Amino acid sequence: MNPTTPALRYAFALLACLWIGSAWSNEAPKPPKAGIASANLLATDAGHQILAAGGNAFDAAVAVAAVLGVVEPESSGFGGGGFFLLRRASDGKTVMVDAREKAPMAATRDMYLDENGEAVAGRSRNGPLAAGIPGQPAGLVHLAENYGRLPLAQSLAPAIKLAAEGFPFGKKNHALIGFRVDILAQSPAAAAVFLRDGQAPEIGTMIVQPDLARTLQALADQGNAGFYAGEVAKTMVAGVRAAGGIWTEQDLADYRVVERAPMVTQYQDYQVITAPPPSSGGVALATIFNILNGYEYENLSPLLQNHLLIEAMRRAYRDRAIYLGDPDFVQVPTEMLLHPHYAAGLRASIRLDRATPSDALPGIETEPGGTDTTHFSIIDRDGNLVAATLSVNLPYGSAFMAPDTGILLNNEMDDFSAKAGTPNAYGLVGEDANAVGPGKRPLSSMTPTFLVGPDRTAVIGTPGGSRIITMVLLGALTLIDGGSAADAVARPRIHHQYKPDAVSTEPGAIDADGVAALSEMGHVVSPNERTWGNMHVVVWDRADDRVDAASDPRWEGVGKAEVK
Ligand code: GLY
Repeated sequence: MNPTTPALRYAFALLACLWIGSAWSNEAPKPPKAGIASANLLATDAGHQILAAGGNAFDAAVAVAAVLGVVEPESSGFGGGGFFLLRRASDGKTVMVDAREKAPMAATRDMYLDENGEAVAGRSRNGPLAAGIPGQPAGLVHLAENYGRLPLAQSLAPAIKLAAEGFPFGKKNHALIGFRVDILAQSPAAAAVFLRDGQAPEIGTMIVQPDLARTLQALADQGNAGFYAGEVAKTMVAGVRAAGGIWTEQDLADYRVVERAPMVTQYQDYQVITAPPPSSGGVALATIFNILNGYEYENLSPLLQNHLLIEAMRRAYRDRAIYLGDPDFVQVPTEMLLHPHYAAGLRASIRLDRATPSDALPGIETEPGGTDTTHFSIIDRDGNLVAATLSVNLPYGSAFMAPDTGILLNNEMDDFSAKAGTPNAYGLVGEDANAVGPGKRPLSSMTPTFLVGPDRTAVIGTPGGSRIITMVLLGALTLIDGGSAADAVARPRIHHQYKPDAVSTEPGAIDADGVAALSEMGHVVSPNERTWGNMHVVVWDRADDRVDAASDPRWEGVGKAEVK
């Protein structure tokens, strides 16, 4: 490898950065059409309806997120939270609205441990004790009030209608409820909405949510006061506490979104703009890109490319476990982790002919994660961008619905490290940085991302727990390499998260010879029959004056990408 190459590439990247800055002025061209890609066709349609009514991408984001919260309760909702990455075309302002849930003030570091000091998984995953204070309602109010053109009530209207009139229970709702039927059955309000005779509803069953419609109308009419104060707040807190939870009305009254500066890194001639802590996604993505920046990655053999990807993933997930947490509570050494010298140090520990056993790096135990959460991508005709990844954590969140409110609560508290070194539902472990603390946000893997190159702007993200980061990485590499939105979402995936020390592969990701060669190098390759993720991408090719969008083929017929 030519040692001068990384320096030259770095210089080129800086020039590209300057170019991008100028491209984001008022003189910048506008997209010929708007693109929206989301996990549900009703949500994508609602977003386009709001654009057609004169709204911008941020109004559309309110509509899409709200509809997803009604029709995709397994993945996100008003009882959950998430990250909205925004870029406003008029002034180039790029910001992440952090609407992540917060631990209630009565939360304690050891609240999920038993008398022997062992983590009790059920406590942080099921029922109201598992729920953080929701951020999504405040996130939508913030978007409408600070970035949108339309009144909040107008952007929420499609969701309110679907809650009041019902939506047909679909393939994905059904596929994921199987994991949570027993827990949903323990919450009478949740069971009344989502179960039929204690069982999963048939596909096509109409799910009507009158309580949710009422709560959303209060949010539409009163903004934050309609959810975080007054009757709705009182009723939610009473329901939570009656079922063993620890929320107070003050917790709700005190909830605020935070605007955070996005994490920006450079790969080849692309600026990668992504989620900062309390997401681990941006730091991990930047670490991996920084490692790859030291090689002529695109010119390597597929075997070496896969080897380097795995080694970079291994190191990024190790750092995730050790260093990352809520930046409002812990000192996250972001500057160190993103420094080119740090990446050079990580590169120095990578052999090109052998896998590094994860045990050669300080150890944690993990197991693979599942599919949940949701993501949508929007580019409007003004060039405004939204990448939003929203979550209730596991399918159907905590499976607890606060009676009379229609709000299905998240179980995002499981994203804390209940006990140092003990894996959460995604097999991820953490240390003190991500310990439970009152008012703290749990570390997330959600990685909404913009890619900005000389001729192309892309919006990308996906659900998938601990695998989100590696999925966004692979999708981004495809797009940077010139692939289409459809190529990026369809690309077969590989994943390594440090522990367990194994590479998961989707069918078709690595052929038999590739698996044999990686095994020969010391990698443990664990081919999966199943697939993961649900990626939604919108691409604006500025040189061709073309907007393209694609939804993940793994959920064919459920998601919808549409350019209008
Ligand atoms: N609840 C999934 C995540 O935030 O990573």
